[in-house]
Amino acid sequence: MSRTPIIAGNWKMFKTVSEAVTFFNGVKGQAEVEGVESVICAPFTALPALVEAAKGTSIKIGAQNVHFEDNGAFTGEISGVMLKDLDVDYVIIGHSERRAYFAESDEIVNKKVHAAFKHDLAPIVCVGEKLEEREAGQTKEVCKVQTEAAFKGIDAEQAKQVVIAYEPIWAIGTGKSSTAEDANEVIAYIRSLVASLYDGSVADAVRIQYGGSVKPANVREYMGQSDIDGALVGGASLETDSYIQLVQGAK
Ligand code: 13P
Repeated sequence: MSRTPIIAGNWKMFKTVSEAVTFFNGVKGQAEVEGVESVICAPFTALPALVEAAKGTSIKIGAQNVHFEDNGAFTGEISGVMLKDLDVDYVIIGHSERRAYFAESDEIVNKKVHAAFKHDLAPIVCVGEKLEEREAGQTKEVCKVQTEAAFKGIDAEQAKQVVIAYEPIWAIGTGKSSTAEDANEVIAYIRSLVASLYDGSVADAVRIQYGGSVKPANVREYMGQSDIDGALVGGASLETDSYIQLVQGAK
């Protein structure tokens, strides 16, 4: 089965609305490569302008978080109803920064995955180990616990639409990327977990990205691996030239 490669930029807490639109106008066309899915995950404030700018292009727009309830007394939160109303396509769920700084547990991540499907948003679910867990040989176990929790109660048809991003936390924003071979080994393992939770056809369909210090200079190495279907990119997704090269390098 051939999976469509997917490059997603995670802008984190960067770019005003005007900066976002300027960026978009600078990448459209060149960051549209046949056979590669290109997604920009922006701060909430920039989403309406980006969705508008993306009309008529193949670039998809994603949020970086969603609350699991549709509405209610949750000051400062944004729901799936609101994101769908904007016509957003994707949402990142369970990024390690949200797990670490905003106390997102595996249970909350799972509730958010359910909320995404309820509102027809495709989830990009992040998993990955901390440095001390890697050094203790616990990488696979950590990914297993996080992956199994995220997929709880998700049916096979939904599961096929999930994008998993394997992001070893020690490689995020540090310039220390996992070797392509190591990342591929963990990603193949995550795929085997999906096969055991569902079946081979679901595991074949699920796209699994690597994330952590991916840049134009190394993206092809990752994309050349058997099980790596794309990249979730932070820092290198913020510059137009670099983002264009990432999408072009995924082919
Ligand atoms: P960097 O690409 O800046 O290492 O960030 C990775 C990441 O966290 C993407 O979600």
